[in-house]
Amino acid sequence: MPPTLPRIVTSLPGPNARAWIDRDASRVSPSYTRAYPLVVERGEGAAILDVDGNWFLDFTAGIAVTATGHSHPEVVKAIVEQAGKLIHMSGTDFYYGPQIRLAEEIAALVPIEGPVKVFFGNSGAEANEAAIKLARYHTGRPRILAFFGSFHGRTMGALSLTSSRSVQKRGFFPLVPGVDHVPYAYCFRCPVNRRVETCDVECFSFATDFLFPRTVPPEEVAAIVIEVVQGEGGYVVPPPKFLARVEQVAREHGILIIADEVQSGMGRTGKMFASEHFDFHPDLITIAKGIASGLPLGLCVAKESIMRWAPGSHASTFGGNPVACAAALTTLRLLKDQYLENARVQGERLVGGLKGVMSRHRIIGDVRGLGLMVGAEIVVPDTPDLRKDPKRRDAIVEKAFQRGLLLLGCGDNTVRFCPPLVVTAEEIDVCLRLFEEAVAEVESGFLAP
Ligand SMILES: Cc1ncc(COP(=O)(O)O)c(C=O)c1O
Repeated sequence: MPPTLPRIVTSLPGPNARAWIDRDASRVSPSYTRAYPLVVERGEGAAILDVDGNWFLDFTAGIAVTATGHSHPEVVKAIVEQAGKLIHMSGTDFYYGPQIRLAEEIAALVPIEGPVKVFFGNSGAEANEAAIKLARYHTGRPRILAFFGSFHGRTMGALSLTSSRSVQKRGFFPLVPGVDHVPYAYCFRCPVNRRVETCDVECFSFATDFLFPRTVPPEEVAAIVIEVVQGEGGYVVPPPKFLARVEQVAREHGILIIADEVQSGMGRTGKMFASEHFDFHPDLITIAKGIASGLPLGLCVAKESIMRWAPGSHASTFGGNPVACAAALTTLRLLKDQYLENARVQGERLVGGLKGVMSRHRIIGDVRGLGLMVGAEIVVPDTPDLRKDPKRRDAIVEKAFQRGLLLLGCGDNTVRFCPPLVVTAEEIDVCLRLFEEAVAEVESGFLAP
């Protein structure tokens, strides 16, 4: 049983954490970005225990993955039961119930018009690989549009779509050809407090006014790939008109819409899919993070009329593994019964509380979000466009860690709040208190003469 959270009993990192981190440094790929030195022993709900006996309050959910919290007993039970019966057989060559049942359940849930079919992979990147392959296959068109600030994964195809940081691409060129990027709503040209009224149409006009007439014939574009709420790029919630415009342009030119709901899907935004907030109608949806509460699973869901590819054209040995599917079926049931509604209610509490913190601290320039996908931007107060402040954002995340609150950054200067969807009102309040303490400490250092 976790104690009242958080409970920090050593300096951070503690001695055991230090030892693990030293071992990691000599044998594990240095490409990973660890924001702070947390070495995890176990998790329960929104609680994380480190290897030195420190308990943390987790507002990262392993980067928006553990929807039902860490090691939810019913998910664990489903995993153990399924593992006792069948761990692997490969859905590419054989049939098994959990994969078929999950396809049926997801088909009934996705906001895609008409009947759909489901392809199973292991990750968000694989789901997006499947989606862009299918879009090319179905349309016979070679090109794809994606958005600046987006994150779609790191395999070569998904990386071609990704555009949140150039370090993710440095040294890996050439990527898959035929991908062009256009500004997302509230792009880099906008001031931080998001008051540019014309954003809805302006941002996408780059595609219609420049790319289409000059470099990218629209009839050659297979798909527009879009995060319905941009995640890695800064937890950016677009205005509804922006998505409506994307949909209108896609329909006009026979371009498919691929909604990457890898992060925003599975209840994260307080609805099962973020598209539902906007009355947005994708042709394909990709899903991964929240679906199996932490087991690897990535889905590409497409209209049945689109997912008509020949046997052998695409597959994955491990994708749709029976244990991951069993975890997903239980996750879905728990989301529908309790946690989807909890995400909505606690999300409102969190946003309300963060707006209160913003009213007391000028280094917070914006608070925004849907459900439990919430961001707070850290800025330099009194600068004309509220200049972004990545350094102080990082400092706040570090100070929060020292206090026992796990947060992550996203975008240039945003602190992201994406707790497990089981988070309680009390835990939201603890998070708000610790976050405000961290903000106050960083702000006082900054504003001191
Ligand atoms: C929106 C989105 N798409 C795709 C991915 C890639 O998922 P994975 O890391 O499982 O390949 C991520 C991961 O952060 C994501 O946030």
